[in-house]
Amino acid sequence: MELTIRNTTYHVEDRGTGAPLLFVHGFPLDHTMWSAQLNAFAERYRVIAPDLHGFGMSTGVRELSGMEDFADDLQEILAALSITEPVTLCGLSMGGYIAWQFAQKYPERLSRLIVCDTKATADTEPTRANRLELAERVLKEGPEFFVDGMLQKLFSAATIQTNSPVVEQTRNVILKTDPQAIAAAALGMAARPDMSSTLSAITVPTLVICGAEDQITTVLDMQKIAEQIPNAQFEVILGAGHMAPMEKPADVNDIITYFLAGTDI
Ligand code: MLT
Repeated sequence: MELTIRNTTYHVEDRGTGAPLLFVHGFPLDHTMWSAQLNAFAERYRVIAPDLHGFGMSTGVRELSGMEDFADDLQEILAALSITEPVTLCGLSMGGYIAWQFAQKYPERLSRLIVCDTKATADTEPTRANRLELAERVLKEGPEFFVDGMLQKLFSAATIQTNSPVVEQTRNVILKTDPQAIAAAALGMAARPDMSSTLSAITVPTLVICGAEDQITTVLDMQKIAEQIPNAQFEVILGAGHMAPMEKPADVNDIITYFLAGTDI
């Protein structure tokens, strides 16, 4: 469905009935990265997966998309959908950066948290410099110049070799993404604060998932996150890289299913 909030039209997948599960995609992707989860969980839950501001089929141009801005957008999308009960928020990577902001700013809207392949720390200086360069270049050249390098980092070696539909689907999504949205989110990620000190205040049941071969956010990074959140469960997905929910959907879905059943609300 399309949802217009002030000047922005959001594309939002909204299917099924039951407790709401809100899926937040990574960078520079869209809601389709969650297809396997949306199909599976729509049978028992209300699944909601927006294309973030400027991404996928959503409109909107910003100079800088801060992680807090995206969290505010999510809160407005939920309000526009008349969802007043707390949601289970599931975010991957940039979706996780947004989830930390949502958890801090809207704790009353959160019933459970699932974070996949993400970090709580801010960027290092070299990463920040790369993002600024990417933001500048993508506006001039479009996403072609970084797509191959990014796909190599997003997926495990096994996925690259044996699962070309998933890799090619992701390539197409990246190539279709508005350069302005890519630049704005890259600048937003570069500016994001270190959220590590906020993790101990997250009291909702939390599931922390990491692909064993994730090159962007390591298993060690994510293990530390799980250790700092009081009520967290940590799971490693063998054979998967950064895009664990796309690479090993059955394994990820099983883990999410058990987590949801064990923390029924
Ligand atoms: C993502 O998947 O959202 C990105 O890898 C996040 C990042 O670049 O830090």
